[in-house]
Amino acid sequence: MKKLVLLSIIFSVCVCGFGQDGIRSVLTLSNHWKFSKGDFEGAERIDFNDKKWEEVSVPHDWAIYGPFDKEIDKQTVRIVQNKEKAATEKYGRTGALPHIGIGWYRTSFSLPEFSQGKKALLVFDGAMSNAQVYLNGKKVGYRPYGYSYFYFDISEYINPQGDNTIAVRLENKEKASRWYPGAGLYRKVQIIVKDEISFNQWGTFITTPFVNSEVAKVNIKTEVTGDNVFAETVIKNSKGEVVAKQTQNEKFGQQIEQNIAVSNPQLWSPEKPVLYTAELKLYQNGQVKDSQTIKFGIRTIEYSADKGFQLNGKTTKFKGVCLHHDLGPLGAAVNKAALKRQLTILKDMGCNAIRSSHNMPSHEQLELCDEMGFLFLAESFDEWAKSKVKNGYNLYFNEWAEKDVVNLVRATRNHPCIVMWSSGNEVPDQYGSLGVKRAKMLQDIFHREDPTRPVTVGMDQVKAVMESGFGAIMDIPGLNYRVHLYEEAYDRFPQGFVLGSETASTVSSRGVYKFPVEIKSNTMYEDGQCSSYDFEFCSWSNLPDDDAVLQDDKDWVIGEFVWTGFDYLGEPTPYDTQWPSRSSYFGICDLGGLKKDRFYWYRSRWNTNDETLHILPHWNWEGREGEVTPVFVYTNYNKAELFVNGKSQGIQEKSNKTKQNRYRLMWMDVKYEPGTIKVVAYDDNGNSVAEKEIKTAGAPDHIQLDADRTIISADGNDLSYVTASVVDKDGNLCSNATNQLHFKVSGKGMYRAACNGDATSLELFHLPTMKTFSGKLVVLVQAQNEPGDIVLKVSAKGLNSGTITLKAK
Ligand code: GAL
Repeated sequence: MKKLVLLSIIFSVCVCGFGQDGIRSVLTLSNHWKFSKGDFEGAERIDFNDKKWEEVSVPHDWAIYGPFDKEIDKQTVRIVQNKEKAATEKYGRTGALPHIGIGWYRTSFSLPEFSQGKKALLVFDGAMSNAQVYLNGKKVGYRPYGYSYFYFDISEYINPQGDNTIAVRLENKEKASRWYPGAGLYRKVQIIVKDEISFNQWGTFITTPFVNSEVAKVNIKTEVTGDNVFAETVIKNSKGEVVAKQTQNEKFGQQIEQNIAVSNPQLWSPEKPVLYTAELKLYQNGQVKDSQTIKFGIRTIEYSADKGFQLNGKTTKFKGVCLHHDLGPLGAAVNKAALKRQLTILKDMGCNAIRSSHNMPSHEQLELCDEMGFLFLAESFDEWAKSKVKNGYNLYFNEWAEKDVVNLVRATRNHPCIVMWSSGNEVPDQYGSLGVKRAKMLQDIFHREDPTRPVTVGMDQVKAVMESGFGAIMDIPGLNYRVHLYEEAYDRFPQGFVLGSETASTVSSRGVYKFPVEIKSNTMYEDGQCSSYDFEFCSWSNLPDDDAVLQDDKDWVIGEFVWTGFDYLGEPTPYDTQWPSRSSYFGICDLGGLKKDRFYWYRSRWNTNDETLHILPHWNWEGREGEVTPVFVYTNYNKAELFVNGKSQGIQEKSNKTKQNRYRLMWMDVKYEPGTIKVVAYDDNGNSVAEKEIKTAGAPDHIQLDADRTIISADGNDLSYVTASVVDKDGNLCSNATNQLHFKVSGKGMYRAACNGDATSLELFHLPTMKTFSGKLVVLVQAQNEPGDIVLKVSAKGLNSGTITLKAK
């Protein structure tokens, strides 16, 4: 094992200051970990021989490299929440990737500056799961929940003179999840060394209880260790200019409280996500003992019966999506560039909110939401004391729920993006009086830890929670689906508003269309795909149009979180019982982040600044000549005319005839003939304002490459997502192409993974070859630590290859 030396390696994520005066230093343990799957006696010992173990960097997901196997975590279950009548064998429910079992991680470091009077903390942003943590052969702690943030005080175990060995044993059980949880140290691990006289870990809470256009009151409560100490706070604006400064020497118990005026405050909002910085120093006897730097936003939030959710005094509806934590081909291992790409895509769609379903989000995701402007619903659990899966959180609820909630709130409460907590998702405890007590108990813990934000639960058993009082006690009644019960819930619940905490669950496969085009639920086809006419949903769910009507017509519906923004690994409904399906079909974008048609459906409503004019399906239907092939257009315009090879198919106008007619322009009787389809949009005065056309493609000719970013950071982690499309000689997409592509990266980058969005593909993401699906796939190119050119070449038999040059800076 190579060892890491803390001394000169200083990393500051948003929370930590550091200084030559030895105040506080932070070491991120990313490289030189040794990993092995399996259980090993004595693996916690310093002298354990791990030479043969694989060297990995953290964040790391041991299971994402596969292979896929239908036997992995095969679950014979009756999914009650999916209204199933009998148990059936479910494959791929947790992704069919080898995440079950035991894995060990070891690394070593030295801390020569650690001495008497210092404190060292070992901090995990998450570890999947059942983490047993050892330092120098001694056990320092245990944490069962894989999504929890946690830390241990390791001061007494440190050897300042020599090497220190961290060993972590993780164990994932079968039947512990309803989706792919990932495996391993999938989030970052850090060591913080500070003085004993210091700010407590996660002990600072910044709020803005008074805000008007002239002034904001910034309230800072901070827990400290030490006597005769005082705190000094400097507040800087987004340009780094000092806008306020204050010293406070009064301490009540362990808490120092400051109220600091910031004049002419710039408010944080999704449209203008302005961030301030608080630099706190702790002094004792004239000496600086600790410092920390915390980003925060000045904003107000309020929820009321007459005005719904108000941000900075303005009623704002949640145009949100739910996201699972995996990043498709990267698995659960956190990568900030991958998260940023997701949010960039969602921003363009007009999305303004994220729900971290159904667990604690990564810190990286929260930082990005602060910076890019997304409201955030931070969730905690998918289960309480009653089980959904045998080895789920029900095993830990009684002992750990409070601790996990406390850490969630304390570690993340300074993020202005978080505007609501969720204590649970569709918990079976919705039934029965004990469940009501648990709901209150959890909500009280959230309130105790954070009196500024309300709490919701995603409730699917709406009738039951009306009867039991469960729904009435929640700050925010969140309904998962059940659009037919919104009115009744509004009527019977006392809050005066309802949130669509989970909506739609419409299913589709990018670029796949099924005929005849009909609204259907729970439909399965032999090819394991779902139709992208966006007419298919699950028995418990609905179409986006059903939600939109409520969102648009009812002031008391305060917004929605669509299930889901991106496809995720596991939960291949409606194909849970049909192998090989191993990832979801719910996404607005596919598993590789490529947009499905539905992206434009939401964009046409949510992005009110930019034009949307999108035609579906593709126009490559050899064999369907003369057959009815409906054409849909998703657009912000109300009216448009469709032409097939120059022949008008008539004008369609949005209307209230059906919910679908309100949000889609649909030409249901179009007969297929190869050539060109063109849509011309008209404004309300009948002027043509925009047009779009797509053409039948000729023979596949070459591979076209388009990068989302051509310049990336030479930081070893940054990613460019390059879309590879099989096109004809004129550049038209060959939407049925399934060519086997091969990837080669040279220069200052490396091939990281590929993904084609096909939920039935068993090709492995990390191998440098993959078939296109509906003519496309995405290649992830990762930067190295050196600047320079990176060249990606994509080739395939019978096609002219594509080459793109990227830059790492
Ligand atoms: C919901 C559940 C989600 C997901 C979704 C699929 O009931 O909360 O986790 O399972 O259904 O439609």
